Amino acid sequence: MSNWTGVILAAGQGTRMRSDLPKVLHTVCGVPLLGHVAAVMRAAGADRIVVVASPATAEMARFREAAGKDVLIAVQREPLGTAHALLSAREAAGAAGKLVVGAGDMALVRPESVSTLVGQHDSTGARIAMLTATVSDPTGLGRVIRDRNGEVSAVVEEAEADASQKLIAEVNTGWFCLEAAWAWDALERVRVSPVGERYLPDLVATAALTGHATSAQVSDASEALGVNTRVQLAEVERVLRDRVRRHHMLSGVTIRDPQTTYIDMDVEIGPDTELLPGNHIFSGTRIGANCEIGPNSMLRDCTIGDGATVISSHIEGAEIGAGVSVGPFSRIRAGTRVEPGSYIGNFAEIKNSRIGSGTHVGHFSYVGDAEVGRDVNIGAGTVTANFDGQDKHRTVIGDRVKIGSDTVIVAPVTIGEDASTGAGAVVNRDVPARATVVGVPAKTLSKRSINEPKKDGSG
Ligand code: UD1
Ligand code: CA
Repeated sequence: MSNWTGVILAAGQGTRMRSDLPKVLHTVCGVPLLGHVAAVMRAAGADRIVVVASPATAEMARFREAAGKDVLIAVQREPLGTAHALLSAREAAGAAGKLVVGAGDMALVRPESVSTLVGQHDSTGARIAMLTATVSDPTGLGRVIRDRNGEVSAVVEEAEADASQKLIAEVNTGWFCLEAAWAWDALERVRVSPVGERYLPDLVATAALTGHATSAQVSDASEALGVNTRVQLAEVERVLRDRVRRHHMLSGVTIRDPQTTYIDMDVEIGPDTELLPGNHIFSGTRIGANCEIGPNSMLRDCTIGDGATVISSHIEGAEIGAGVSVGPFSRIRAGTRVEPGSYIGNFAEIKNSRIGSGTHVGHFSYVGDAEVGRDVNIGAGTVTANFDGQDKHRTVIGDRVKIGSDTVIVAPVTIGEDASTGAGAVVNRDVPARATVVGVPAKTLSKRSINEPKKDGSG
């Protein structure tokens, strides 16, 4: 297949969204519309991508981030229509070669459809190939007019269509493949429409005059759904969520109730993992194989190891090891690493901490900024008091420590290996290895060496 430059038209005002946010930055399945369209261009094989932006968005960091670092930004000074928008990309896109133009609000077009479009342009030698779709409700879209031989001859926009043209179900998707050298010249001569804009689809009629216009069809009608309003944003999201769930199910993930399972783009899920009803899995999450997630869990930007269980819990920015069980009703926050084989029960909040393997945090505890060793037991109601009103401090808990119920650990504090704290202790000084501390503030009750037999038989 031939080389081509992708051009994404994204400089429109998007007034129908009634939003302060540029339309193409509104997200579906966790990714801005602009990001979806750029991804489609890349997947279809674009050599490079030019995004046409308005002066207001061109320098916006979020705009560049959504499009990807590799894109070039061209500025359309005023929103004078889609033909004018494409012309604004002239310098960035280059004088010659092949262009694929996509509207920044048409995120459901599949890469395969774009490849079909490019293939059609290649094989027919046409100057312009338009991607069309036959839809059940064409309202608002440009209708495709065909000549006696069935070839495309023009596009009529809704506002200019007569009653019989409005009945046409075949529509312009807003994606085109064009010969650049011809397009730059032809675009200069596109008429100004009754609303004062220059329409890119008018190039179809220009090319058709000399028999140089052709078309290709999308593989399914959902690809023609665009985003002009927030109602359409929700429709597009529904279609895309369906596609994402299908992809995971076909890759071996069981989804008990697809309708209540929300999975963003860029989520990885291993085979034989089961998603129970009511989960929301945000972008940047990787779930291993043989896990059980839910019901009602929220995962964002985290890694879940093979065979882990996450019941009705929130996990964000954390790494959960293989075989770990979390929940119900726990919250694991950014910077946390829960090592394999540990157990986080109910009503635990863990932030920016390492929890060693085999450690149990069973019942309503707060563990923040802590380094917890292996095989530790954190008793019910334990709290690391990590904040002194000004700064956060760390807690270090050694291997095999037993923290008694309702212990408050006033950081910075280190509790040595094999030490214990009594119920209700307030630990505000370091505890040596193997010591037991009790009381408020906690004092050493006894010091015994694991190697020496006890002299008086007391603990
Ligand atoms: C456009 C097509 C219509 C097609 C539909 C499919 C035209 C005139 N009409 O209508 O035939 O069925 O898309 O989605 O092209 N934009 C600019 N600069 C502008 C105007 C628009 O960059 O001056 C961008 C917008 O940001 C948007 C895209 O072009 O991403 C399409 O513009 P929009 O106003 O949404 O066109 P539609 O009315 O949907
Ligand atoms: Ca549109």
